Amino acid sequence: MKVILLGAPGAGKGTVAKLLTDYDGSVQISTGDILRVAVKAGTPVGKQAKAYMDAGGLVPDSIIMQIMEARLQEPDCAKGFILDGFPRTIPQSEELKALLGKLAIKLDMVANLVVPREVILDRLTTRRTCSNSSCQEIYNVKTNPPNADGTCKKCGKPTIQRDDETEEAILNRLEVYTEKTAPLIDFYRKEGMVKDVTSLDLKEIVEDITKALEK
Ligand code: AP5
Repeated sequence: MKVILLGAPGAGKGTVAKLLTDYDGSVQISTGDILRVAVKAGTPVGKQAKAYMDAGGLVPDSIIMQIMEARLQEPDCAKGFILDGFPRTIPQSEELKALLGKLAIKLDMVANLVVPREVILDRLTTRRTCSNSSCQEIYNVKTNPPNADGTCKKCGKPTIQRDDETEEAILNRLEVYTEKTAPLIDFYRKEGMVKDVTSLDLKEIVEDITKALEK
């Protein structure tokens, strides 16, 4: 599949993307995960991105496009990809359209995860993420907890709250989403690409998306 997952912070993009990879072996590409690895490794990109991320703002489009232009040409993308957290601004959508055209890749769908704000706020304050850069498994202390000692069920490393999970950063991320990312829903709706997904049940969400892909 070649799918974009749209949705506010905490809508479940990362969780759903990981589940969708089991469907046909498509890879999850999360710009957030890629940036967090770069920040932890202290690479030049990571050094530039850290302050934007910690404050809940967006990393400049030029940095993101440089990352994604290279990533989409890696061999594991040939089977398909699930874009999680990208594109996030109208310029990124326009540049992605041009890039996919150049690479002769056709998108199948833009799945828009619709989740009420109160659910989002609850999820973001109860999320835990594996601290191992090559794992980054997502947990929730209420709905899907890690091991009792706080370690990851997959790799055994400690789970943590992300640096952008302070109340101030969460509120800023939601504002930035409304201003910069929500307009992408209309952008892709005009292209007839959008499938709204309103269920809050993970099994139903995955079924909604995969059934729509099979049509
Ligand atoms: P990124 O990592 O993409 O963060 P985000 O978009 O804010 O999204 P989140 O990862 O917070 O949430 P999610 O929708 O993936 O939800 P999750 O599955 O974890 O980006 C981080 C930062 O990087 C940005 O702020 C920006 O600075 C920068 N960045 C990244 N991409 C960029 C770009 N393209 N351009 C510019 N800057 C960029 O779920 C949340 C919680 O809910 C979890 O605990 C999960 O277990 C739980 N949960 C999820 N779904 C369900 C469900 N259905 N039922 C019960 N619990 C659920």
